Amino acid sequence: MASEQDVRAQLQRAGQDHLLRFWADLAPESRAALLAELASLEPDALREHCQRASAACAQVPGPLPDLEARLQPLPPELVGSAIRCDLETRLRWEEEGFRQIALNKVAVLLLAGGQGTRLGVTYPKGMYQVGLPSQKTLYQLQAERIRRVEQLAGQRLGTHCTVPWYIMTSEFTLGPTIKFFKEHDFFHLDPANVVLFEQRMLPAVTFEGKAILERKDKVAMAPDGNGGLYSALADHQILEDMKQRGVEFVHVYCVDNILVRLADPAFIGFCVLRGADCGAKVVEYSEISPETAGLRGADGSLLYNAGNICNHFFTRDFLDMVTREFEPLLKLHVAVKKVPYVDEEGNLVKPLRPNGIKMEKFVFDVFQFAKNFVAFEVSREEEFSPLKNADTASRDNPSTSRRALLTQHYRWALQAGAHFLDVHGVQLPEQSGEEALSFLPNGDPPALCEISPLVSYSGEGLEKYLQGRILQSPFLLDEDQARLLQPQEC
Ligand code: UTP
Repeated sequence: MASEQDVRAQLQRAGQDHLLRFWADLAPESRAALLAELASLEPDALREHCQRASAACAQVPGPLPDLEARLQPLPPELVGSAIRCDLETRLRWEEEGFRQIALNKVAVLLLAGGQGTRLGVTYPKGMYQVGLPSQKTLYQLQAERIRRVEQLAGQRLGTHCTVPWYIMTSEFTLGPTIKFFKEHDFFHLDPANVVLFEQRMLPAVTFEGKAILERKDKVAMAPDGNGGLYSALADHQILEDMKQRGVEFVHVYCVDNILVRLADPAFIGFCVLRGADCGAKVVEYSEISPETAGLRGADGSLLYNAGNICNHFFTRDFLDMVTREFEPLLKLHVAVKKVPYVDEEGNLVKPLRPNGIKMEKFVFDVFQFAKNFVAFEVSREEEFSPLKNADTASRDNPSTSRRALLTQHYRWALQAGAHFLDVHGVQLPEQSGEEALSFLPNGDPPALCEISPLVSYSGEGLEKYLQGRILQSPFLLDEDQARLLQPQEC
């Protein structure tokens, strides 16, 4: 290992020798750990990274209006719509998606390396539970949707099939995620079909271009963004693993969307039938000004209906090409964040305002390399409610996520012919479908109804349990309850 003198001299040349300023205070093992870390960061590469970060931060593009002026709608021929298509078309997409799943050609890949700083929990976001009657966590909901979609595909095509679950973690999330899955018996999935791997980390940098110390003997590191996926796939031979299993199509998604449809057969089927190598689910925008969001095209449909919800379809071949050829071309973006650091006296400081730059790659930056990109429009109510913030924020928080799921399940139950009594035993007015949404005073549905993904994946098959039933709120339809409600066969 390089000596302290050598490393100090290299760091001096790189303008980063402040990283050794607590050397005299460190015990031998801390010194060894710090030297090893600094050697692995390579002082020349570190200098380049820090310079690039502070230069990029100084030129962050202007606020949203600039972007809006450059916004262009997607060419309509690239877009399929789950909302506006006819039933026959939708069934055709689903049929194809189920067929590919039943042939074991579909995998799901979860991006779970983020630090969830806005939500403010110290554990991986997938372990969070938003307060559903069942108390299920995001990880559990996802695992159960995988089990259900495997079952549905298997039933249709008379096979026993597997949708492998690849989970990209980071230094922060790997250990706790593995522990959590073990404690929960992998939510009854076969552990051999759950593959966890780790993304790379990059040093966090001050606005002046200095790497940050988070302890006297440790540089502050952050995961390299969800676009770190592509180097992580190569680092851990994940595409080889997929090839061995016969996987051809991958559904990549973020951990924080409580409504996410894993391996959604309609989406997979649409992309496969279009011969796409890369696809994205999209919804109407909420992030642009109401004027722009409301613009309509000649046929009366919304011009900007393509907000990316981080649900991507990739062929394995496309991922292979990206990891081999295009990964080095991916841009590093600036994320300005609160980075805990040690001050001159060696005390840990948790800043109240952003003080550091993290450089991140974005998973969707590979769209430009696709030969046949498609977008698939879905309904926000049915498919997108991200958990980003704590409840102190007004949107995308635990309450909005919980309500989105409970409102969806209430809607499904009404559509299946259920009637509800409120908590006082009074029958609620008969409403169904979209009307049900109109009488939510604070966003909560009038009755609490939660349906296990093990019983229904996207609202299907509920009539046999719920048709004509009068249900007391709160109502939880899990597998046991479903068995009780199932009509007895003679
Ligand atoms: P976000 O951009 O919302 O970041 O991630 P985050 O880390 O979850 O939350 P904040 O910004 O610190 O509050 C979107 C998705 O990308 C994943 C996250 O786990 C989430 O699923 N992600 C993000 C990674 O897998 N790796 C990263 O380096 C960053």
